[in-house]
Amino acid sequence: MPGTLMNAPVIRIEQLNKSYETSAGLFPALKEINLDIAAGEFVAIMGPSGSGKSTFMNILGCLDEPSSGRYMLDGRSVAELHGDELALLRNRSIGFVFQGFNLLQRMSLLDNVALPLIYCGVQREELQRRAHDLLAKVGLKDYADSMPNRISGGQQQRVAIARALVNRPRLLLADEPTGNLDSHTSEEIMGLFGELNREGITIVLVTHEADIAHHAHRQVRFFDGRIVSDQATPSMEVAA
Ligand SMILES: Nc1ncnc2c1ncn2[C@@H]1O[C@H](COP(=O)(O)OP(=O)(O)O)[C@@H](O)[C@H]1O
Ligand SMILES: [Mg+2]
Repeated sequence: MPGTLMNAPVIRIEQLNKSYETSAGLFPALKEINLDIAAGEFVAIMGPSGSGKSTFMNILGCLDEPSSGRYMLDGRSVAELHGDELALLRNRSIGFVFQGFNLLQRMSLLDNVALPLIYCGVQREELQRRAHDLLAKVGLKDYADSMPNRISGGQQQRVAIARALVNRPRLLLADEPTGNLDSHTSEEIMGLFGELNREGITIVLVTHEADIAHHAHRQVRFFDGRIVSDQATPSMEVAA
């Protein structure tokens, strides 16, 4: 494909800065960020509240733009993409999962999962088949016709994950996906992320909980808008 480099990292961030305009002037939320994420990685983004994690995720997801620096996604410079090209890249390459699930309450679970496909002109039959398959994959096979308010928070997050996967993205971004869930349910959701990663999806997940981050293979820590550490997750094996 023109413009796509073979073996390029899925994500390459170079000297990226992001400042917000506030009444008190420019506020630097991200400072001189450099980061590569290779295909198939499972990365946890950590750091205290206000350290820039969500700002960073929004840029990764092409929901916001850096103030300076470069973001290469799949070997392509995001800043050079326009309108439809950017929308296509965002819709086809990236799946999002948020803390608050963000399901449409008046739609069945099946329709919630299928929703992103409607904008892609996928035929109704194919759309339903894919949504059914994904609901089965996340353990909600018999819930296709249920409404979101009839299921638990953990189940709602599973539906949100199914929806994020419906366009078969290579990259899954999740901003504190277990932030509203109890620890047992969080473990189940992390098990699902682990399974998806083993199937080849690259995952970048924000959490401020060490137990959750342990499921990732690499932990990148933000503090005050900068990356202050980047290391492999220590082995979970402990001496008996
Ligand atoms: N839209 C915005 N306008 C101004 N400041 C913002 C905006 N969004 C975030 N910030 C500020 O940027 C910093 C980083 O925020 P955020 O990325 O949400 O951090 P985190 O997700 O790590 O809690 C915080 O100080 C926050 O107040
Ligand atoms: Mg945040």
